[in-house]
Amino acid sequence: MKTFSNPSVAIVGATGAVGTTMLSILEERVFPISDLRLIASSRSVGNVIETTWGSIVVEDLDTVDPAGVDIALFSAGGARSLEYAPHFASAGASVIDNSSAFRMDDTVPLVVAQVNDEAIRSHEGIIANPNCTTMVIMMAAGPLHAAAGLRTMFATSYQSVSGSGHTGIAQLASEIDHFDSQRSNLVTGGWDEPDGDLYTRPIAYNVLPLAGSIAVVGYTDEEWKLVNESRKILDRDDIAVEPTCVRVPVMDGHGISASMWFDRRVDLDEAVAVLGSAPGMQLWDDTKVPTPLDSAGIDDILVGRLRETIGFPGGISLFAIGDNLRKGAALNAVQLAELLLA
Ligand SMILES: NC(=O)c1ccc[n+]([C@@H]2O[C@H](COP(=O)([O-])OP(=O)(O)OC[C@H]3O[C@@H](n4cnc5c(N)ncnc54)[C@H](OP(=O)(O)O)[C@@H]3O)[C@@H](O)[C@H]2O)c1
Repeated sequence: MKTFSNPSVAIVGATGAVGTTMLSILEERVFPISDLRLIASSRSVGNVIETTWGSIVVEDLDTVDPAGVDIALFSAGGARSLEYAPHFASAGASVIDNSSAFRMDDTVPLVVAQVNDEAIRSHEGIIANPNCTTMVIMMAAGPLHAAAGLRTMFATSYQSVSGSGHTGIAQLASEIDHFDSQRSNLVTGGWDEPDGDLYTRPIAYNVLPLAGSIAVVGYTDEEWKLVNESRKILDRDDIAVEPTCVRVPVMDGHGISASMWFDRRVDLDEAVAVLGSAPGMQLWDDTKVPTPLDSAGIDDILVGRLRETIGFPGGISLFAIGDNLRKGAALNAVQLAELLLA
C-alpha cells in the first residue's frame, strides 16, 4: 500500500455538508497536508474558502486536473464518483469515496476505521467509506462480532435529515416554520401540505417509515446497504440482517435500534465488557440514554439501552447513535486517510 508523509489532499464536494465537515476535521486533527485543493460543481467555482492551509479557491470538478493529488476525499454523489474517482486514481491518487458507487465492488475495500482497518491494505486506488447508518451500527456490531461471531441482526434506523445533505437540513427547518402557525392542526388534522419534494411525505413533526428509495422486494436501497455492507465489513456472507430504515425529524445523528444473535450466547456482562472497551465509542447506562442531540458534533458513537434479548433469548439488544456527518462520513474518511500516512 502506498503511504504518504505530507500528502497533497483534494476534497471533492468540498462545499457540501460532508465536505465542509471533512475540512474542519482535517483542521482539528492537524492532518499533515502539503497542498489542499477544494473541488465542487461549477455553481461554487471561484468561491474562496478560508482554511488552516490558507485561502483556497474552489475548482470545478468537470475541468480539474488531478495530477499531483496524493489523497482525494470524494463526497459529491455517486454519479460524480463513478465518473471521476477512477480518473483521480489513475493519475496516482488514493481515493477515499464516500458514495455508494464502489462499496460492493470486490476490488474495493469497504472500511470502518477501528473495526476492519486491515482491509485497506488491499486497495488498488479506491477505498470505499461505508453508508452512514451501517457505519454507526458497525462500531458496536464489529467488536461483538470479533468476540462471538455475529449471525443475525434485526436493525431499525432513525435517520436524520442531514443524511440528505444541506438540502435535508433546509427542508426540515422550512417545514418546522411552515407548521408553527398551525400547530393545533397537527393534533386534530387539517394541516396544509408544506412545499418541497425531497421526501415523499412531510418530515417535520412526522416519521417516514421509508428512507431511501424502493429497490428490490420492497426494501429500500438504504436497507440493502445495511444488509450487504454489514456482511462485507464483517467479512461474513451468511449474516442474516433484517433492516428497516426510517427518516425522523432530527437535524443530525443516525440512531439504530438493533438486536443481535451470535454463534453462541452473549450475556449482558460480556457485552458490557466488550463494548465498554471498544474504541471510538462510549457506553452509556439507562440513567442518561444517548440521543441525537448528544451525538451531534462529537466523534464517538454512543451506545445505550444495552440488554439481553427476551423474545429470542441468547442475544443482545442496544441503541447506537452517531453523528452521520462525522463518524458516519467525514471523520471515517479522514481516519482512513490517516491509515495512508507513512
Ligand atoms: N450527509 C451524510 O450524512 C452522508 C453520509 C455518508 C455519505 N454521504 C454521501 O456524501 C455525498 C455528499 O453528501 P452531502 O450530504 O455532503 O451532500 P450536499 O450537502 O448536497 O453536498 C453535495 C456536494 O457535492 C457537490 N456536487 C454536487 N453536484 C456536483 C457536480 N455535478 N459536480 C461537482 N460537484 C458536485 C456539491 O457542490 P456545489 O456546492 O457546488 O453544488 C457539494 O459540494 C453523497 O454521495 C452522499 O450520499 C452523505
